[in-house]
Amino acid sequence: MKDIINVYAGIFNATLDEYLLNRLDCPSPVKEAVAYSMTGSGKRLRPMLCYLGAEFAGKSCEDVADFALAIELIHGYSLIHDDLPCMDNDTLRRGKPTTHVRFGEAVALLAGDAMLNGAYEVLLDAINSSRDVLAASYIAKYAGTTGMIGGQCCDVTDNNGKGYDENALLSMYSKKTSGLLIAALLSGAVSCGCTKEEEIDLVNFADYTGIAYQITDDVLDCTSTDAVLGKNVGSDEKGDKKTYVSLFGLEAAKEKAKDYTKRAVACISKYGDKAEKLIQLCHYLVGRNY
Ligand code: IPE
Ligand code: IPE
Ligand code: MG
Ligand code: MG
Ligand code: MG
Repeated sequence: MKDIINVYAGIFNATLDEYLLNRLDCPSPVKEAVAYSMTGSGKRLRPMLCYLGAEFAGKSCEDVADFALAIELIHGYSLIHDDLPCMDNDTLRRGKPTTHVRFGEAVALLAGDAMLNGAYEVLLDAINSSRDVLAASYIAKYAGTTGMIGGQCCDVTDNNGKGYDENALLSMYSKKTSGLLIAALLSGAVSCGCTKEEEIDLVNFADYTGIAYQITDDVLDCTSTDAVLGKNVGSDEKGDKKTYVSLFGLEAAKEKAKDYTKRAVACISKYGDKAEKLIQLCHYLVGRNY
């Protein structure tokens, strides 16, 4: 699976390089900060999901190149902001000092803003059909307050002061992490003409995959090293974050991640060959060590 991930990452990186070189119109040093934060050891999971959504619907990566770019820009901005001193206050990301450490907070904040606006500029320029409009509106929804931003709101306010039981925690994960995975897979598939039934199954698949992904991220925050992850381990404990690990322990967290992986796979196994790469990816992610 690692080889396949690298192939898709290569396709994405070519699109990104072209964007940074020819399309991003932005003053220095914010432009450098955008390029800095978008490069490094990113796994390019969301672009890959967008590409696999297109392939699921019978098209190819080139057909959704700009959707994948827009989503990874949104993901990149969310990481810059997530690392700021007012949020998780982290100093290492993608194997490098975080953007605010390297460029200062004002430039980091503006780079994030530039990436969010830039993402919608890319998306609007890419729209060619009513299916593309629907796909773009899903990105806005799942990256926004219904999804990623909504989940980050719960994360920083301790579930709006209500604290967490298991359901509240999983709902926060579904928003903050599954949100962009849903946006990626769904926009790829919808813009390439998947059916309504497929749409629903893909949303559920990406939702469960995202929950498993975040629980594994929490586990790695406790068990890995800065060098392997390319980001600060122990960040959750330092920030007194409620995570699946802090509430239920490491072993229960690992089991829960496997359980959500099974649930995810069950949503799409009926599609046979055309779901095969998505299923392999989901299994790979729960066993990842980075
Ligand atoms: C980090 O996402 C934020 C989480 C949702 C855990 P990734 O683990 O996909 O980070 P990159 O893109 O590979 O750097
Ligand atoms: C996910 O949570 C962050 C976003 C949705 C941006 P984390 O705060 O755990 O992500 P990392 O561990 O910093 O990558
Ligand atoms: Mg965070
Ligand atoms: Mg963080
Ligand atoms: Mg984390």
